[in-house]
Amino acid sequence: MSDAVPHAEVEIDLNAIRDNVAQLCDRAGDAQVMAVVKGDAYGHGLVRAARAARAGGATWLGTAVLAEALALRAAGDRGRLMAWLYAPGERFADALAEEIDLSASAPWTVDAIADAARETGRTARLHLKIDTGLGRSGAAEARWPELVDAALKAQAEGLVNVVGLWSHFAVADEPEHPANLAQLETYHSAVAMAESRGVAPEVRHLANSAATLMLPQAHFDLVRTGLSIYGLSPSPQAAPAHEIGLRPAMSVRARLALVKRVPAGQGISYGHLHVTDRETNLALVPMGYADGIPRHGSGGAGGPGAPLLVGDTIRRVTGRVCMDQLVVDIGDDDLRAGDEVVLFGDPARGEPSAQDWADACGTISYEIVTRMAPRLPRTYLGADGGTSQ
Ligand SMILES: Cc1ncc(COP(=O)(O)O)c(C=O)c1O
Repeated sequence: MSDAVPHAEVEIDLNAIRDNVAQLCDRAGDAQVMAVVKGDAYGHGLVRAARAARAGGATWLGTAVLAEALALRAAGDRGRLMAWLYAPGERFADALAEEIDLSASAPWTVDAIADAARETGRTARLHLKIDTGLGRSGAAEARWPELVDAALKAQAEGLVNVVGLWSHFAVADEPEHPANLAQLETYHSAVAMAESRGVAPEVRHLANSAATLMLPQAHFDLVRTGLSIYGLSPSPQAAPAHEIGLRPAMSVRARLALVKRVPAGQGISYGHLHVTDRETNLALVPMGYADGIPRHGSGGAGGPGAPLLVGDTIRRVTGRVCMDQLVVDIGDDDLRAGDEVVLFGDPARGEPSAQDWADACGTISYEIVTRMAPRLPRTYLGADGGTSQ
C-alpha cells in the first residue's frame, strides 16, 4: 500500500511551543509558568503540546475540564497540574487519586471536594477563586469570606489544603484599561483577607498571557499562559507576536484539488458572492467549515475573504467557504492540482498568520487555532522526537 499524502493537514512545531515557553519563563521573572493546555492545547494536541511546554520550563499545566487533566496523567505527566471548571456530580475522587489541583468558586465545590477527600483518604490541593471583575467564575466579592471560611473548615478537618488564591483578568490585552488596576486592587484585598483568616497559599495567581507580557505587577507567584505559548499574541496591536519573540506553532496547509480556467462573468461558489470580472484561473482548496475553516472567511459581497499563500502570492478566499471546499481566484498564475497552499502559519515565512484569519473573520486567533477539526491529520515536528503523525 502506498503512503497517502493528505489533501490537507495541520502541522504543529513542538519546538516552537518549547521555545515560546522558555521565552515566557524569562518574561515571568521569579514567577513560575503554568502552560494552559485546555481545549486540546488550543487545538495543538493536548499531550504533545504539554510535553513540549514542560521541556520549555513550564512547572505547571492547566486545563479547564477534569477529563483533560486526567488524560495528561494517563499519558504519564506527573508534575503540578490544575483543572478549574466543573459542575456538580464531577468525579473529584479521580482527580484526588491523580493529584490534580482543584479550584473552588463556591462552597458547593468545597463540600464536594471534601466528600471526595473523605472517600479516598487523600487531602485535596485547593485553589480558591475570587471574581475580581471578569464577571465569570470565581466567588463574588461579597461571598468571598464565606468561601474562605468553608475552605478553612475543610482544611481544619484535614480534607483540603488551600494552596492557591487566584483570579482572572477581563481586559489585560488592553494594558491601559482601568479595569486592570481595579482587578489588581480587589485581588490584593481578597488575598489579604484570606491570609488574615489563616490561609497560607503556596501560589497566588492572576496573570494570563497578556498580563504576563504587559502587566508585570500581576505576576505574583505563578502566571497562566495560554495563547502565547502557541506563538500568538493576545494583544496583536500592543504586542505583536514576532516583536515579543514568539513563533507560531500551528500551520494549516492543503493541496489543490483542481485548477481551471473560467470566463468573465462566472459566479463563484454558493450564493455567487463573487462574480469574475475577467477570464481567470480558479483554484479549489479541499478544506471547508467541516475542517474548522470559518464561513466568515468567505470573500465577496460580505467581506474581503481570508488570506492564503498560493504559490508566492497572498490571495484571498473568493466567494463562500463551503463545508469541504473553498475557491481562490489566482488570476493567471500557473498552478496545478497537488500544488500546496498555506492557509495560515508563520508570517516570517511569508505565510498569513492565524491573526490575519481572525481579522478577516471578525474573531480572535484563539478561536482560529482551537477550532481546526479533528478530521484533519496532524503532523508534529520537533521536541517530541522528529516528525510524526
Ligand atoms: C482561567 C484561565 N487562565 C488562563 C488562561 C490563559 O489565557 P491566555 O490564553 O490569554 O493566556 C485562560 C484562558 O482563557 C483561562 O481561562
